[in-house]
Amino acid sequence: MSVITKDIEQAGLFLSRGELVAIPTETVYGLAGNAFDSLVVSQIFAAKQRPFFDPLIVHVGSSNQLLNCVEQVSPKAEKLMQAFWPGPLTLLFQKSMNIPDIVTSGLPKVAVRMPNHPMTLQLLQQLSFPLAAPSANPFGYISPTSAEHVQSHLGDVVPLILDGGFSSVGVESTIVDVSTTPPSVLRLGGISVEEIEDCLGEPVMIQQSSSQPQAPGMLDSHYAPRKPMHWCSEDHLPKSNERVGVLSFQGNLNGDVIFELSHQGDLVEAASKLFQGMRWLDEQDIDFIWVKPLPDRGLGRAMNDRLGRACRS
Ligand code: TXA
Ligand code: MG
Repeated sequence: MSVITKDIEQAGLFLSRGELVAIPTETVYGLAGNAFDSLVVSQIFAAKQRPFFDPLIVHVGSSNQLLNCVEQVSPKAEKLMQAFWPGPLTLLFQKSMNIPDIVTSGLPKVAVRMPNHPMTLQLLQQLSFPLAAPSANPFGYISPTSAEHVQSHLGDVVPLILDGGFSSVGVESTIVDVSTTPPSVLRLGGISVEEIEDCLGEPVMIQQSSSQPQAPGMLDSHYAPRKPMHWCSEDHLPKSNERVGVLSFQGNLNGDVIFELSHQGDLVEAASKLFQGMRWLDEQDIDFIWVKPLPDRGLGRAMNDRLGRACRS
């Protein structure tokens, strides 16, 4: 079992000795290690049973730390950083020599973000290296939004979990590459496409492909509970002996067990409870989970993306 602590210095000591620590962020918990140390980074892949072709995000706490990781920062990247850092936005940059190839799965670009969580920002500012951190879940399972979630699935392989409470945003960061024309969104996430376009003053293209996973949880089956999950449709009506769990946006579906994401119909509140709701339903005495698409705007798009990958059909 992992030790769960609120002691930032202890977390810093573990990381400085080359150990892994689960860290809180505003999106989901990360499984962190020294991004400059390829041995530590290989332990992250092993702990998650994550394939080596799926690169990691590097977390920084200051612009100096960023400059140690990248070749240069373009004006467009600067604009997005000004607007959304610290926050749920990851940007791609040409990587510097300090970043080992294992972090980027051999790609020339590195994904970097500055997370908006006071404990993790303080931790990063104490360290002399940035932190490589994928979400702290076994590969393919639902991402963790609390220390307990991390403990329940990775407790055997993570010595220390820094407990920063529930993640406030609840879906992963948006990943953007501003070097393409137009700029590309590689993963929908906590900052909406509309916000990115407003900030840059130009349209972006959404470039997610599941056949060639160059980016995120882009694989078709990802973020998935162990119980089958289906879009609510006539193709998946329950048989008479089957119990249905329902993940509902706003109280509008019938089922044997229901998790309502936002009674007020608020997408921000719904996102913060999405993975928690999926985990909770996964533990109930039901045969499958039914879900309806959320409104396809703002954070709703990122949530529909995650649900689509979690649904078996
Ligand atoms: O909100 C988040 O981004 C969370 C927290 C912990 O920061 N992290 C997270 O990491 O979601 P992970 O590993 O679960 O997803 C990161 C995705 C990966 O699937 C990977 O494919 C993509 O980011 N990625 C990382 N580096 C990349 C690169 N150099 N080029 C393209 N995609 C990259
Ligand atoms: Mg992940």
